[in-house]
Amino acid sequence: MYRTHNCGELRLTHLNQKVVLSGWVRRVRNAGGIIWIDLRDRYGITQLIMEEQYTTPELIQVAKSLGREFVIQTEGLVIERTSKNPKIPTGDVEVKVSKIKILNESKLPPFLIEDETDGGEELRMQYRYLDLRRSVVQQNLIMRHKVAQEVRAYMNSQAFLEIETPVLLKSTPEGARDFVVPSRMHAGEFYALPQSPQILKQLLMVSGYDRYYQIVKCFRDEDLRADRQPEFTQIDCEMSFVSQDDVLTMFEGLIKHVFKAIKQVDLPNFQRMTFADAMQNYGSDKPDLRFGMSFKYLTELAKNKGFKVFDEAEAIVGISVDGGAEFTRKQTDELTLFVQRPQVGAKGLVWVRYATDGTLKSSVDKFFTTEQLKEWAGLFGAKPGDMLLILAGGLNSTRKALCELRLEVGNRLNLRSKDVFKPLWVVDFPMFDVDEETGACASMHHPFTSPLWEDFDKIETEPASVRSSGYDMVMNGVELGGGSIRIHSKEVQRKIFRILGLSEEELQMQFGFLLEALDYGAPPHGGIAFGLDRLCTMLGGLDSIREFIAFPKNNAGRDVMMQSPSLLSDAQLKELYLRIEAEKVSK
Ligand code: AMO
Repeated sequence: MYRTHNCGELRLTHLNQKVVLSGWVRRVRNAGGIIWIDLRDRYGITQLIMEEQYTTPELIQVAKSLGREFVIQTEGLVIERTSKNPKIPTGDVEVKVSKIKILNESKLPPFLIEDETDGGEELRMQYRYLDLRRSVVQQNLIMRHKVAQEVRAYMNSQAFLEIETPVLLKSTPEGARDFVVPSRMHAGEFYALPQSPQILKQLLMVSGYDRYYQIVKCFRDEDLRADRQPEFTQIDCEMSFVSQDDVLTMFEGLIKHVFKAIKQVDLPNFQRMTFADAMQNYGSDKPDLRFGMSFKYLTELAKNKGFKVFDEAEAIVGISVDGGAEFTRKQTDELTLFVQRPQVGAKGLVWVRYATDGTLKSSVDKFFTTEQLKEWAGLFGAKPGDMLLILAGGLNSTRKALCELRLEVGNRLNLRSKDVFKPLWVVDFPMFDVDEETGACASMHHPFTSPLWEDFDKIETEPASVRSSGYDMVMNGVELGGGSIRIHSKEVQRKIFRILGLSEEELQMQFGFLLEALDYGAPPHGGIAFGLDRLCTMLGGLDSIREFIAFPKNNAGRDVMMQSPSLLSDAQLKELYLRIEAEKVSK
């Protein structure tokens, strides 16, 4: 028997019991005749003790030979500690060792396997199996496990069936590039890894399964960020005979259930906000509602008053910062530099300080009178002590830049607490992203999303004004999930494909099977998919989804531990009928 207990288990109730423990040596301390060993496993840490005068020299010899991360088995008696450690659950007791067996030695690890480690990200990823031994990382994966279990519990209680779908698939249109897999048996042909199981879950509705879910890997070849990995996990769901409201209610229930079970937090009912309102008031389709500072439009009041920047602008938009009058000159200069960063893209920042004594001072005093500034403050609903921050330019670019500025100010004022959760549904997305120059339409969600029927008559004449039945679940500025009511009529689906620019031939080749399925009694249906990695990151209060993925890729899409992607041998290439252009091989 390797162990009678784990390393997190022993308490005063175990006093005087003979126990066997196995685990990793966290550290050995030798203080004049007494040796202490911290023994660690997934469950915790137990202190082992050996006093030289009561122990055999052989045993002391073994203890002294132990290095960090050696794997040992030990036998001993549970005794009460003289100096207790309230920081760990086993801190009242220690094990007086009578036997130690080294099960495996370890090289000195390249970084400290402690919550506070000295290893940088790259090194920890290279030795991810050691990084994963750290308790903080283990807690993240344990939480992920619990989230998955709670998701399953809720979905099962609502009669959803968990059904697996294939990974070797055909291209699925979710807006990113596909990862493809060459076929050995079919020369020159490729599978594509699913960007999501979208079409398959719709087919399952055609097949009458009524309620489907799957915790499933999806693959997208796209630029990576803190909240994006090339392979990630969705909680993918679909339901038949539902309206948009039915779907939103069902999945609001799921997220509430998970927050209650994992964080003991009762989420409020989710607000619903149209895409148009989200863009108008926050410049984003994923607004962070943990704080106010919604946008106010000054265009009418401030344009054509002789200030060139405003006069030439399509839109003049600002926010009022509560208590912002206290910003120093240095801070407003920093915010100006912030908005001028290329990723934010504004030319400059106009500020109006509404001092607590009621005086108004601005960076555009030369062009506007105090009376005019007062009028602006009125429009913003600002009060003494506040600061107006204003940007001007094209409508869309100014909204985008002001959104970034709002979030930055929220960060600086600590208004984005990780313990506050502000969920909402964003609804009524535009059906298409219409290219201003060419007029080409691309799907805002995906091509299977149903238009809102009240807009359907404009679908060919004014596609840009047509809204879809797509929705996103957003929390604290993060898109946790997205879905839609689907098209279940072949004619409508065909029409949408045509508007998206697919020829009859392309349409048949890529989606012929779907169009055919829609001909065989497709029920009305809709669904959603949540990013499980993002949901865990939100619950865990961290910023990067990598923290909740056992073996993540780095920002360049590489697994630095396995060194993948990697080259194939000539034999493999040949078998797959592939030839690599030598000059294209990355070094
Ligand atoms: P969508 O593309 O919005 O919808 O994806 C659903 C959710 O998946 C998460 N997500 C990601 N997480 C990590 N890394 C990525 N690269 C990544 N891409 C997406 C997000 C997102 O909200 N088939 C549709 C769903 C549907 O219509 O039912 C779909 O995949 O949290």
